[in-house]
Amino acid sequence: MTQSLFLLPGDGIGTEIMAEVEKLIAHLNASGKTDFVYETGLVGGAAYDAHGVAISDADMDKALAADAVIFGAVGGPKWDDVPYEHRPEAGLLRLRKDLGLFANLRPAICYSALAEASSLKRELVEGLDILIVRELTGGVYFGEPKEITELGNGQKRAVDTQVYESYEIDRIARVAFDLARTRGKKVHSADKKNVMKSGVLWDEVVREAVKDYPDIELHHILADNAAMQLVRNPKQFDVMVTDNLFGDILSDAAAMLTGSLGMLPSASLGAPDPETGKRKAMYEPVHGSAPDIAGQGVANPIAMFASFSMALRYSFEMIELAVALDTAISDVLEDGLRTGDIMQTGCRKVTTAEMADAIIAKL
Ligand code: IPM
Ligand code: MG
Repeated sequence: MTQSLFLLPGDGIGTEIMAEVEKLIAHLNASGKTDFVYETGLVGGAAYDAHGVAISDADMDKALAADAVIFGAVGGPKWDDVPYEHRPEAGLLRLRKDLGLFANLRPAICYSALAEASSLKRELVEGLDILIVRELTGGVYFGEPKEITELGNGQKRAVDTQVYESYEIDRIARVAFDLARTRGKKVHSADKKNVMKSGVLWDEVVREAVKDYPDIELHHILADNAAMQLVRNPKQFDVMVTDNLFGDILSDAAAMLTGSLGMLPSASLGAPDPETGKRKAMYEPVHGSAPDIAGQGVANPIAMFASFSMALRYSFEMIELAVALDTAISDVLEDGLRTGDIMQTGCRKVTTAEMADAIIAKL
């Protein structure tokens, strides 16, 4: 059966790492293991330059029609002054919202070959395997009102709205519990119920939902303490579920534990279709477009490849192939190949293409 992908490389290193994904797809198709067909579209600054918007309606339709969207990265100083509603990030946020991708899975796994590249001591991060489950279509990212108003006395007033309804909390909590069942069965739910009403509701709904999961050990943690514990003793965590904004921040911190932001993949999933059981999904590296190194061929393609592995796993149920790709990544690291961001003494520094080719060769 043919699987359809929609590739959105975006800006900066997004285009460079997506070129490697195309090689990977060609290899997988040639091996007979997959039958991917794909189209490529524009998002972020690239879409703004071509169409004056951060993603065109035509490309949104293609994203909605595809079995999975593979996303690179957006943004760069070139678009610092475009109108707020057309800034590159608006394309990403529209994709998340219009595809209904409420569940963002961000695994932070420390490859043992990279334990020295982490900013924490080896013993704190070696073997680390955390999954952050971030709510992605609600909270302060999308809440209204969201505005800056003139007060008439020379002052301005800015408002963002943190808003959650119970169904939004319930469904993300259940995603976290379901995933925890396939791992360590332990979930930390992070909020700020000591100062926020949305946190009070968050905790109430999560505690109610866990009653359907008697095998899951649920812990409440305040989000600020979660940040501290992540850098103090990260291995105490298995799955962490949290809202859109806390998830954004905590996942960057978790990423760094693994050695480099260039290593972290993510999957953004919608609800299963009641008829077909299929979910809308988008896969993207957690890192950004890295304008400082764009165009030099030195970007780390691993987060992009690991995101593709998550697509194999979550959209296409090709678990064996996903494991093979993850293993190929870890083997290449064991062999001592490194892009600049994870370079260590005694290792061989390689380009984006060399790293990708080596991973594909291991497959
Ligand atoms: C992320 C990014 C995005 C976010 C930006 C680019 C809008 O930081 O995916 O973590 O804040 O969600
Ligand atoms: Mg972020």
